[in-house]
Amino acid sequence: MADVQPPQLSDNAVYLSRSERAKAGKRPSRSSALGVVAESRFPGAKSRSEMVQGILAQDRDLVAGNFGTVYYKPVTVCGVDLKLEPLQPSIGTVVHGIDLATDLNDPEMVTFLRELWLERRVIMFRNQAHVSREQMVEFAQHFGEVGSRYGEREHVPNSPHDLSHQIDVPGIPDMLVLTSDEAVPAAASNWHSDASWQMRPPMASVLMCREAPPVGGDTCFCDCYSMWEGLSLETKERVEHLSAVHMGAVIHQMDGKTPVATHPVARTHPETGRTALYVQQGFVRSFAQTHNIPKDEEKTLLLEMKLQEGRPEYTCRFRWEEGSVALWDNRAVLHSASGDFWPHRRIMERLTILDHDVSRRTPF
Ligand SMILES: [Fe+2]
Repeated sequence: MADVQPPQLSDNAVYLSRSERAKAGKRPSRSSALGVVAESRFPGAKSRSEMVQGILAQDRDLVAGNFGTVYYKPVTVCGVDLKLEPLQPSIGTVVHGIDLATDLNDPEMVTFLRELWLERRVIMFRNQAHVSREQMVEFAQHFGEVGSRYGEREHVPNSPHDLSHQIDVPGIPDMLVLTSDEAVPAAASNWHSDASWQMRPPMASVLMCREAPPVGGDTCFCDCYSMWEGLSLETKERVEHLSAVHMGAVIHQMDGKTPVATHPVARTHPETGRTALYVQQGFVRSFAQTHNIPKDEEKTLLLEMKLQEGRPEYTCRFRWEEGSVALWDNRAVLHSASGDFWPHRRIMERLTILDHDVSRRTPF
C-alpha cells in the first residue's frame, strides 16, 4: 500500500484529554451509539477492560473471505473492464475493476463515472489502498475543485475541542482525518449532508478508509429524492417554498462562532433537475423565522421529514475495508456512520469537492 501512516496521536492535546475517560476506566458514553452498542454486545461487564476484552473475543476469529453470488453489470470503458455492483435498486453502486491512481487520465472515464455518480447518488471502489493521499486529491479534482476540510474557504472550523482539527496531513491541509480507537471513540452516527451549515456546502465528499474494523463502522447513505417523494402531497405543497435553518455544532465553530445557513427545504439538483428533500436531523433545527410557522405545526412537519431518514428502501449500506473509497453527492444523499464498532480502530480520510460552476454552489 501507499506510504500512509496513521496520525500521530500520542502528543495530541485533544486526544490526551479525551482519553482521560478511558484511563479512568469509564466505559464509552451511552449518549453515543458506540457506547450503546458496546453495552448491548457485552452487557453486565464489571469494568471497561472486561468490556473491551469481551467484545474483542467475539470478533477474534473473523477471517476475510467471499461466498454467495453477487450480481453486477459488466461494462468496458476506455478499454477497462468494469463490474458495476448495485447495493440497492435505487442508490449506490460499487465500481469494481478500476484503479483510481491511473484509470481516470482518460476524460471519457471521468465522464462515465460522473454520469454513474449522478444516477446512483453514491459510487464506491475497493482495493485502492495503494492510492496515496496526493493521488486522492488528484482523483477528487476530476470531479470539481477540492474544498477546505468543510467545503468553502470562508468558514474553516478551528474549534479547539475537535480532534480532527488538530490532525494535520503534511502538504494536504484540506484533508480531514477521522479517527476512532479504544481510548477515544468517535463516529458521525447521525443523518446529515456534509457541512450543510455552510452558505455554499460541498457538492461532494470523498472518503478513503485507511483502517477498518473487522466488523461494523459501515456508512449508510439515504436517497434525498425518495425522501422528497415519500412526503404526503399535502406536506409537499406546504413546504415546497419554505427554507430551513441549518446550524453547525460546537466542533464546527470558527473563532468561537457557530455557523448557520438557511437553505430551501425542497432543493433542486443543479445537474439532474430533480427535487431532493434537504432537511436532516443532523443540522436542521427549524424553518426560517420569516415564515412564521406555528411551533406545533413546525414540529409535526419536521417530524414527518425526519421519519423519511434511513428508511430501508431508500438506503444503502457500505462495508469498509482498508482501501475502500466512497464518493457521494451531498445534494442527493444523506449519510450516517454506523456507531457500532468500538473498541476497534477506524481511520478515514475525507476531502470535500466544490462544484466547478460557482453559480451552482448555493442551494436553490
Ligand atoms: Fe459526514
